[in-house]
Parts: sequence; C-alpha cells; structure tokens
Amino acid sequence: MNEVIGYIVKNHDRYLEELESFLRIPSISTDPEHKADMVKAAEFVVEQLRAAGIQDCEIVPTEGHPIVYGERVDSPDKPTVLVYGHYDVQPVDPLDLWTTPPFEPTVRNGKLFARGASDDKGQLLTHIKSAEAFNKTRGSLPVNLKFVLEGEEEIGSAHLEGFLRENVERLAADTVVISDTALFAEGVPSICYGLRGLAYLQIDVTGPKADLHSGSFGGPVANPAFVLAEILASMKDSNGRITIPHFYDDVVELTVEERKAWAGLPFDRDAYMAELGVDDLNGEAGFTPLEQVWARPTLEVNGLVSGFTGKGAKTVLPSKAMAKVSMRLVPNQDPDKIAKLFEEYVRSVAPKSVHVQVQDLHGGQAWVADLSHPALVTAAEAIEKGFGKRPVFQREGGSIPIVATFTELLKAPTVLLGFGLPDENAHAPNENFDLGNFYRGIQSSAYFFELFGEAGKRAS
Ligand code: BES
Ligand code: MN
Ligand code: MN
Repeated sequence: MNEVIGYIVKNHDRYLEELESFLRIPSISTDPEHKADMVKAAEFVVEQLRAAGIQDCEIVPTEGHPIVYGERVDSPDKPTVLVYGHYDVQPVDPLDLWTTPPFEPTVRNGKLFARGASDDKGQLLTHIKSAEAFNKTRGSLPVNLKFVLEGEEEIGSAHLEGFLRENVERLAADTVVISDTALFAEGVPSICYGLRGLAYLQIDVTGPKADLHSGSFGGPVANPAFVLAEILASMKDSNGRITIPHFYDDVVELTVEERKAWAGLPFDRDAYMAELGVDDLNGEAGFTPLEQVWARPTLEVNGLVSGFTGKGAKTVLPSKAMAKVSMRLVPNQDPDKIAKLFEEYVRSVAPKSVHVQVQDLHGGQAWVADLSHPALVTAAEAIEKGFGKRPVFQREGGSIPIVATFTELLKAPTVLLGFGLPDENAHAPNENFDLGNFYRGIQSSAYFFELFGEAGKRAS
C-alpha cells in the first residue's frame, strides 16, 4: 500500500484544486435556474471518474437531474464495491452571512469553505481519488468498482429509485459505501450504522377569501394563523411526545446495549449547548440528546408564514397560513403510513371555520445496519489505518433516503464512512470541509478497497 498512500500524499494539492473546481459549479438541485449547472456538475464527475481509470461512464438523463454511473469491473473474482454519493447541493441563502461567496471556494485555517464542501462533493471525491491512486500506481484496482452519483439527494432522490430498480443486475455489489455523514467529533472517527427516515408535509389553512380588517372582523371570523398555531402546538405534549394517534405504533425501541454504548461516548452537554447558542435543551422526556437525535422520532416545523410580516404594525386578519412540517422517523416507521396519520390528525382537529389542505411532499425510510457483517469490520480497520484511531459506532439523525432502497434491492450491506464534522455548517452559511479529514478520508477509502479486496479473496 505504500506506493498508493505515497501517491495520495504527493497529490494533495492537485486533489484540493480539483475539489475547488467541482465546488465552483453551483449545482443547487432545488432551483430550476441551475438546471444547466447540474449537467455541468455531472460532466465534471464523469471527467474525474475517467481520469481515475473508471472507464465505463455514462450520464443517465432522468425527468429530473442526471444520474452519473461509472464502473470498472476487471475480474469476476474480485469483490465489488458500489460507491454512492450526491453532486447536488443545498441553496445558499442567506447569502449575506457567508464570509466568502458560496461558490468561490476558500481555504481558511485548514478548512475549505464552499457550499457542498462536505455535503457531499468533498466526501464523494475521496473515493474517486483513492481509485485514481490505485490506477496510477498499480494500473489496477483491488476491487471491482461501481459508482452511482446522483443530483437529487437534497430534494428526495425522486428519480434514483427507478434507476436502481431497472438496473439491479448491473449494480450487483458485495457492499455499498457512502461518505455523506460526519465523524462523531473532531479526532473521533466513526462508522455510522443508522439513519432516520423522513416524512415531509405542508399544511395550508385558508379562512376568509381575502385579508380582513382585524377590528371589523376579528371575533366571529377564525384566524388561519391562530388555527394553524393551535394545530401545530397540539401535536406534542408537555413531555415532548408526539400526540398523533398511532404515531409510535411501529417504533423499534432502543436496546439496553445501545443505550449503554452511547452513554459512553464523549458527549458534553454544556459544550453542545454553548456551540449551538442555546441555554437549555428539551425534547422527549426520558431520553438523552444522542438518543433523541439518533433513535427517536421527532416532529419539527421547518417554516411558518402568515399575515403581515413587514416593518411596523398592520391590523389585519390574514386569509391564509402555511406551515412546512417534517417528521424524522426511526425503524420501522413507514413514511407513507405516517404521512396518512398526520393528515388524518390535522383533519380531525381543524375547525369547520377554515379550509385545510395537507400535501405530502416527500419521504424516506429509516435504516439501521446489521452490525455483525464483516464489511463493517473491514470498514473499521480501514478507518483505523486512515485516521490512526479506532472508530466509534454511532447513528445519525439525518436521512439518506436511498440507503434503505439499496439494502432492499442489492441485498448487500451498506457502510457509511463519514468524513465530515458535525460543525461544518451543512445546509447553512459558511459550509466547510476539514482538509485533514479530506486527505484522511481518501486514505481510508484506499485502505477499505484494499482490505475488502483481500477479504474477498480469502472468502472465495
Ligand atoms: N448528508 C445528509 C444526510 C445527513 C444529515 C447525514 C445529517 C448525517 C447528518 C444529506 O445530504 C441530507 O441532507 N439529507 C436530507 C434528506 C432529505 C432532503 C430527504 C436530510 O437529512 O434532511
Ligand atoms: Mn449529503
Ligand atoms: Mn444534505
């Protein structure tokens, strides 16, 4: 491995430059104005794959943004690793809070600042760069490699599932590797073995056909803003439990072993609050913050608008109110079932004085890995070599909805090797990626390919 690692070290600066070029492409998937940038980003990824010796590449058009597929399958005797990642990024607003512009990557204090730096362009590139290192030094790869890189992860992966279903045989793999999560903390590498699912809905409450004078009409006429606030407030009780009937029916409870293991992780409650700028924590009673984020379902209001929000005062009874609400789900909650329960609940409590519309925007299944699988043991060894420390095992509160589909279709274990950090501002202003972790990530990827190749040889 010395020559491969040596090549990675020697090429750090060029790897950084290439990541910067990638980050200059504003591939914001949710914004129709960036449709052409999505294609540009897909083309950039293909160039990177080809330069890494992944010769069979194609850009697969979809009704949404293209999927990039690349493979190099040299020998049926080698095990096959499928790498998944996403080249789309989140919107950048509020723009004025960025220290340097989001699509002008800038290095400060060993961190690269740009939208998508850690979520997920920098992380996905680690695997392409480790493949390149093998190809350039040995002329071959220790495993067969397949890459599925999509442009719609941040908007719910609507068109990826169809591609996976239509290509199950072509995508056959012994393991799926994804780097789109974070280390537990700086200097504490981890393997992520669980993700939460998601159900995302919108509630529109309409009262009178137009805004009204609140003095002339306030009283008899229901106020949609108030009705919506009451509906939302009634969704949780004073213990932080969600009150929607049957919401918890399918929840898999935490095991005693998990609770014990997580209690031993270096979590500092005061530092956590200070970092976030909050004076106290709440959430579901009886669970620690890590348990609440990793293994308990939650309900959040993502956005709420109604009435007069300008400067000064205006006496008005608004005609409409709208809320975006998401619920993070855990195994074995079903997002469609939860969306239905949510809608039924809203309808059951909404007064006749308003009209209520509920839309199901998107969703995804939670996922938890089989911890006993040898691929995870190999991953832990690879992380130990790449980071010089044994990883801890953790779950994440976020979602990568397609992971459950990979597990279902490919019947192969998924390994989540996170190289980001929890405080790198994903989805927020000043997103950044620690360059030390970028390089350690590339090395960990290389060790994983090498060790997984050897393990495959031993097994056959
Ligand atoms: N990389 C994240 C998933 C993630 C979030 C991992 C937090 C670890 C911690 C991914 O890009 C993401 O943002 N997912 C969305 C999914 C949604 C848009 C369907 C999420 O979790 O909100
Ligand atoms: Mn991501
Ligand atoms: Mn994201």
